[in-house]
Amino acid sequence: MEIYPANLLDLNALRRVEAVCFPQDAWPLLDLVAVLTFPGVVRLKAVVAGQMVGFIAGDPRPAEGFSWIATLGVLPEYRGRGYGRALLEACEERLPTRRIRLSVRVSNEEAIRMYRHAGYVAIDRWGRYYNDGEDALVMEKSR
Ligand SMILES: CC(C)(COP(=O)(O)OP(=O)(O)OC[C@H]1O[C@@H](n2cnc3c(N)ncnc32)[C@H](O)[C@@H]1OP(=O)(O)O)[C@@H](O)C(=O)NCCC(=O)NCCS
Repeated sequence: MEIYPANLLDLNALRRVEAVCFPQDAWPLLDLVAVLTFPGVVRLKAVVAGQMVGFIAGDPRPAEGFSWIATLGVLPEYRGRGYGRALLEACEERLPTRRIRLSVRVSNEEAIRMYRHAGYVAIDRWGRYYNDGEDALVMEKSR
């Protein structure tokens, strides 16, 4: 597996990864275009045999004092091999702020465990944040 910067040429591959990884929360096409083009956004893809198998985007907000991990997904058949963690670490390295935040469904135990192991702690809970009414756990890492 190799990690490369992603760009607009990755739009179709990203649509697939997002649709498979986030069946309930798939972003509209325009948001996917934005995440691949907005200046300053850290966007990285995990590639195996020339194919995108994972994606992460980090959004620096230096004025607010932290960055947000906007999305992180690995195709199911490639999970459990360290790709998610590797994408997270590569993205963190490229983010300029000392603090990094993310939100995750409270039921997403696997992702929450991964974030905890990576040094994130829960700092807030947003009630009924997702479409179906599930709460979001907000987590932060300080480095
Ligand atoms: C969350 C997600 C990105 C993790 O990706 P991944 O490539 O499986 O992650 P990793 O292989 O790096 O594993 C992360 C941790 O979970 C453990 N793990 C993951 N899958 C595992 C499996 N099948 N068996 C045992 N352990 C597993 C690893 O041991 C690792 O532990 P560590 O943090 O102590 O190193 C992936 O499950 C995913 O895309 N989920 C759907 C989208 C999602 O929920 N995204 C995050 C929401 S914000």
